[in-house]
Amino acid sequence: MARIVGGLTSSHIPAIGNAIANKKFDDPYWKPFFDGYPPVRDWLAEVKPDIAVIIYNDHGLNFFLDKQPTFAIGAAPEYHNQDEGWGIPTIAPFKGAPEFSWHLINSLVHDDFDMVTCQEMAVDHGFTMPMQLFWPDYAQANIKTVPLVVNTVQHPLPSPKRCYRMGQALGKAIESYPEDLKVVVVGTGGLSHQLDGERAGFINKEFDQICMAKIVDDPEYFLDMSIHDMVRLAGAQGAEFIMWLTMRGALTGNVKQLYSNYHLPISNTAAGMLCLKNGA
Ligand code: DHB
Ligand code: FE
Repeated sequence: MARIVGGLTSSHIPAIGNAIANKKFDDPYWKPFFDGYPPVRDWLAEVKPDIAVIIYNDHGLNFFLDKQPTFAIGAAPEYHNQDEGWGIPTIAPFKGAPEFSWHLINSLVHDDFDMVTCQEMAVDHGFTMPMQLFWPDYAQANIKTVPLVVNTVQHPLPSPKRCYRMGQALGKAIESYPEDLKVVVVGTGGLSHQLDGERAGFINKEFDQICMAKIVDDPEYFLDMSIHDMVRLAGAQGAEFIMWLTMRGALTGNVKQLYSNYHLPISNTAAGMLCLKNGA
């Protein structure tokens, strides 16, 4: 049976793409951010997951405001990155795992999560930034991907509780796959940031620290919060934290934090990263 070996989280700020392309790893602005990732890469090289389920929000590349699914999932043989207008280089496609995706879809729909199923899907920075950070040498990494999209761009957004429950159904779906695969679940986005409106530039360090800590040992802390609570505490785009909660819901066993990093500012965003081991 498939096994969930761990959960990762990472912010997905587009500026990271240029910093990677220009190798700014030792630049004083970027170093404290990039330095968080090598220990996680070493852990991934040791554990060698076969599949990464990437929970992210599409920012208008694949779905625009005219059609905005609450939850969507890829079932394609590969996923292409396309120009979103941020001025970051587009990167090579990612391998899909359509059979595995269809297993997840069947199980999730059976458990009352009505996913939009995508047999073609373009992936944006929400997906590609974490992939580049965790698997910088993707061509050599031998890992397949499943993109899972949560709407965080057009209200109404799914509640923290709904996302956590979807994560639990996802965990059950993954671990009922009959092949002996190792799966890692990645939640992207966050932490606090707001890109527009009167509170543009809003950051809430105190709430970020609560998010970083509670997501590990007490994820239920967030379940009675509304999306409006999330927006008030984390900023309009800080509500992307619901994708961390979705990831956390999928972890089925004893969860142990292996690595973490928190650094601000990166562009307009408080950048957070976690590596959680999912044990027996
Ligand atoms: C930024 C952060 C995001 O999460 C995003 O999707 C786009 C931009 C930023 O801080 O620049
Ligand atoms: Fe975003």
